[in-house]
Amino acid sequence: MQVNGTPYRCIWPEADRRSVAIIDQTKLPHCFASVSLRTLDDAVLAIRDMLVRGAPLIGATAAYGVCLGLNEDCSDARLEAVCTALIAARPTAVNLRWAVERMRSLLSNLPLEERLEKAYTEAAAICDEDVRVNEALGEHGLELIREKYAEKGDTVNILTHCNAGWLATVDWGTALAPIFKAHAAGIPVHVWVDETRPRNQGAHLTAWELASAGIDHHLIVDNSGGHLMQQGQVDLCIVGTDRTTCTGDVCNKIGTYLKALAAADNGVPFYVALPSSTIDWTLEDGAKIPIEERDQEEVLLVSGLAEDGKVQQVRIAPEQTKAANPAFDVTPARLVTGLITERGVCTAKKEALLALFPEQNKKQGAEL
Ligand code: MRU
Repeated sequence: MQVNGTPYRCIWPEADRRSVAIIDQTKLPHCFASVSLRTLDDAVLAIRDMLVRGAPLIGATAAYGVCLGLNEDCSDARLEAVCTALIAARPTAVNLRWAVERMRSLLSNLPLEERLEKAYTEAAAICDEDVRVNEALGEHGLELIREKYAEKGDTVNILTHCNAGWLATVDWGTALAPIFKAHAAGIPVHVWVDETRPRNQGAHLTAWELASAGIDHHLIVDNSGGHLMQQGQVDLCIVGTDRTTCTGDVCNKIGTYLKALAAADNGVPFYVALPSSTIDWTLEDGAKIPIEERDQEEVLLVSGLAEDGKVQQVRIAPEQTKAANPAFDVTPARLVTGLITERGVCTAKKEALLALFPEQNKKQGAEL
């Protein structure tokens, strides 16, 4: 992704090879700034307070978090403590556990003196893989948009929820990757961007990414999608996911389920774009996915740019009003038209996922 003509990833190692830089997403869209993470605590806080967010980027940050946590001490006890702290930072996105377990299983088998260098190399490999995988799923999603364009002969209108763009990954994004590719291929696309209360990742991040890439879009309130679908103004929905069970139940940002219901009622295809690191092969039932409950202040306060050019927070409900803030919901597989993965598009069914990822069949068999 280019920002003002400069190519960026969302996380990168710094020259000292003992720290990493991230883009502070809490400052966007009004300020584009990076910050250094130097310690395990820095990484845990960056994930928990959502300076980085989006399932694949949380995973990549956690991988580097393991490195930062081992900077001074590579012992077994320290490795365990570091992994435990990172996994506890956010509960829903399975990429976090996936990345930490990958680091743990590699490092725990190495002599202490080799661990630190190998940790940084592995974290870099996780990031490189994320970029490759998202670009590949973008190609598969592009074909769906191309087909819709061939059928319609006019601008393809795509609705997306939250931010599953470049900022949610190391690069490319998941739901937005096919859209970036369609735009680059000269296919006219227009995006309906759900603002995505309470944190407004759509308004703050997706709109910013699309504007930076010169892609036509409108910001809409979260309740508009059903109406737009009834009016025939949505050709496709494409969203990301934080955890998808091996049976195809999709956990994503709160509000996704309502969009899937509206899409099913209106015959609008509902696609979910995901790298395979977001598939939880251990879970068959979406109801078992832990749903993060975040601070009620996220609902009660809204932030934006005030007339004086400073970002301000304002309270939108009476002082005595309490808020509930479940951050994710689960869309049952039956409402999902297809899963767009790095190996192709498949139905949201276990057999279809295993056909694309047959090595999981063997792994599960071996664990029995
Ligand atoms: O709470 P967030 O902003 O981390 O939630 C992000 C989402 O729900 C994304 O849709 C999901 O992580 C997919 S990102 C490619």
